[in-house]
Amino acid sequence: MSARHAAGRPCPQEPGSPPRPVLDVRRLTKSYGIGTARVQALREVSLEVEAGDFVAIMGSSGSGKSTLMNILGCLDVPTGGRYLLDGTDVSRLDERQLSLVRNRRIGFVFQSFNLIPRTAALANVELPMAYAGVARAERRSRALAALKVVGLAERADHRPNELSGGQQQRVAVARALVTSPALILADEPTGNLDSRSTEDVLDVFSQLNDLGRTIVLITHEDEVAARARRVIRLVDGRIVQDDRMAPPVTAVPEYGSETPDVDREVVR
Ligand SMILES: Nc1ncnc2c1ncn2[C@@H]1O[C@H](COP(=O)(O)OP(=O)(O)OP(=O)(O)O)[C@@H](O)[C@H]1O
Ligand SMILES: [Mg+2]
Repeated sequence: MSARHAAGRPCPQEPGSPPRPVLDVRRLTKSYGIGTARVQALREVSLEVEAGDFVAIMGSSGSGKSTLMNILGCLDVPTGGRYLLDGTDVSRLDERQLSLVRNRRIGFVFQSFNLIPRTAALANVELPMAYAGVARAERRSRALAALKVVGLAERADHRPNELSGGQQQRVAVARALVTSPALILADEPTGNLDSRSTEDVLDVFSQLNDLGRTIVLITHEDEVAARARRVIRLVDGRIVQDDRMAPPVTAVPEYGSETPDVDREVVR
């Protein structure tokens, strides 16, 4: 692909071409350390994820889940192989372009919520848009709309310590979706929640996916994986199982369209 395009935006797609996967990972390897201390955390992992899919990645401790997630989220780089995110070869991006991709195309949800303390839910959700240079009034209305999606509009003024764990995680989900990213990535999002809050957060993920959002989630728990359309199992850095339970949602939303093109970083 020769088109020059902004790092925070999808590459143009040829008319009439088959749908392009959101994630296209080919023979990805990752090793840590050197010599006898070398650990092969990922061994030639290949994986395509279409828009509208909801994928759970499972596997025992040390199987490579977080390593894979960090690479998919452009938080770490692979040792070998190729990774296209929404058509962009992320290995060709520099640090600044990568941070744009992280901010615009990926919504992250972490086990530990990672909300800013002593800051209202609304301001927490506004944050990614502040980085993207969205005007204040629009930030506010979009953050409120995102809080509404997760059922917390009436808690907009509450600080994280005034919210339950499940509510805090729903604020984090609102923050992840407010930029309309191509992909929502979640690493053990229910790992710190009781079963009731787990259900609430999973309901939000299911609802988002039904609306066409693409979700990749890491989990240890069968009840969490049961919500996914596809379950991938890693053993010792390899995909050993890839089960499809339901097809991806086809009514895929436009994303990023509301985000002003404030940064015209060009990818060569
Ligand atoms: N920074 C690092 N340096 C060296 N080895 C690492 C590093 N990070 C991970 N590893 C090793 O890579 C392998 C995969 O680790 P990873 O964190 O991806 O596993 P995981 O499936 O997420 O496990 P868990 O379920 O415990 O979170 C493990 O053997 C781990 O010890
Ligand atoms: Mg992990």
